[in-house]
Amino acid sequence: MNAPVPASRKSFDRARLHALMSREEQRFIAEHPKSAALYKRAQRSLLGGVPMNWMKKWAGKFPVFVAEAHGAQFTDVDGREYVDLCLGDTGAMTGHSPAPAAEAIARQSAKGITLMLPTEDALWVGEELAQRFGLPYWQFTLTATDANRFSIRIAREITGRPKILVFNYCYHGTVDETFVSLRGGVAGPRRGNIGPPVNPAETTRVIEFNDLGALDSALAHGDVACILAEPVMTNVGIVHPAPGYWVSAAQLARRHGTLLLFDETHTICAGPGGYSREHGLRPDMFVIGKPIASGLPAGTYGCSADIAEQITRRMKLEDCDTGGIGGTLAGNALSLAAMRATLEHVLTPAAFEHMISLAKRFTDGVAAAIAEAGVPWHVTRLGCRAEYLFRPGPPRSGGEAAAAADFELERFMHLYALNRGILLTPFHNMALMSPATAPADIDLHTRVFSEAVHELMSG
Ligand SMILES: Cc1ncc(COP(=O)(O)O)c(C=O)c1O
Repeated sequence: MNAPVPASRKSFDRARLHALMSREEQRFIAEHPKSAALYKRAQRSLLGGVPMNWMKKWAGKFPVFVAEAHGAQFTDVDGREYVDLCLGDTGAMTGHSPAPAAEAIARQSAKGITLMLPTEDALWVGEELAQRFGLPYWQFTLTATDANRFSIRIAREITGRPKILVFNYCYHGTVDETFVSLRGGVAGPRRGNIGPPVNPAETTRVIEFNDLGALDSALAHGDVACILAEPVMTNVGIVHPAPGYWVSAAQLARRHGTLLLFDETHTICAGPGGYSREHGLRPDMFVIGKPIASGLPAGTYGCSADIAEQITRRMKLEDCDTGGIGGTLAGNALSLAAMRATLEHVLTPAAFEHMISLAKRFTDGVAAAIAEAGVPWHVTRLGCRAEYLFRPGPPRSGGEAAAAADFELERFMHLYALNRGILLTPFHNMALMSPATAPADIDLHTRVFSEAVHELMSG
């Protein structure tokens, strides 16, 4: 007996996608007159009409302007309400303005915001980070980008090696060394890289994720100070490590004298101690930012006792403010008060249980809709983060995941959802759960997703 044609072979008509997109764009414009007016006015003072260039990437003809946000919801200036599954691309994974953090921020901001002197909150936070993430020594920044940049400097300084290694299609913030990708197996500036100081191939080795042979060969040059990696790639869809990958990769790093730096800014979604704690991995260095202070600017980086000892030995008191690691506002009293409240009261084990169960509800609903429609897509999850990709099975590398991207289709799915009260991230198809997200929010997304796919496939 012949096997039935797998439902996952069905594809859609591109002309139909364009027609649906044009209908959705008209609906969006008609329903957002106030955002449209603000965007028009913004052209006169903001470059590109937005406060930050990537805000142009939203699927509508202009970004929705926000009136206010609470928990997992926000309202725009036109009075429309949304379920927020973007959550500031993880900056608001805590939910918007969670009460303990908002109260701590209000309290501290009335008592001094920045002093260039420590407050006792710094100790509480340092002790909590050590206990949560398993590394003993910590420093603070305003962003995860800076935490990555400073960790890279430390790795270079103590190994005496010039390069770092990253995975193809990684994202670690606006760190020059990481804006690199492979084209035909050759490393070079990533598409869209604006004004690179040098060809990043000079500073960086880049390989595909999950390829131990490539890692061994790259490290064998003996010039790599550190591997900078998300333990699970989250910025090109979700790409999980193959079983045992990180244990072997960490052994290779040790053998070649390379440090392992985990950027857990997004993979904190795996659990209260991040992916490494959940899976018993022990990086030499650790970075996290975004939700660590409920969205108030804050980042932090930690290191092992051995690294701490080596860097302390090299730092001279006279030069410790001009060594390329700094930031006048870093470690400020307000960020630390917000970090303390977030770690103590918001990103708790109980909150993660709730968030992870909702992400399972999301992937169950989306997987059922994909199966029913028979589209060649799949959905995957990492803790409280879920993501659908336009390919039938999970990718093994950033290159494979990137090859499945379909910008037009992505924008259609996002705009269709936005027009029905759901915000997804403007980059790929990520949905994140916060402690304030409710089952009804997820069920709304499942219904809307299912309708979008149905409309796309019918006719
Ligand atoms: C894994 C990871 N690290 C670092 C960053 C940089 O964060 P920020 O832009 O807040 O510095 C990002 C931003 O998306 C990220 O995804």
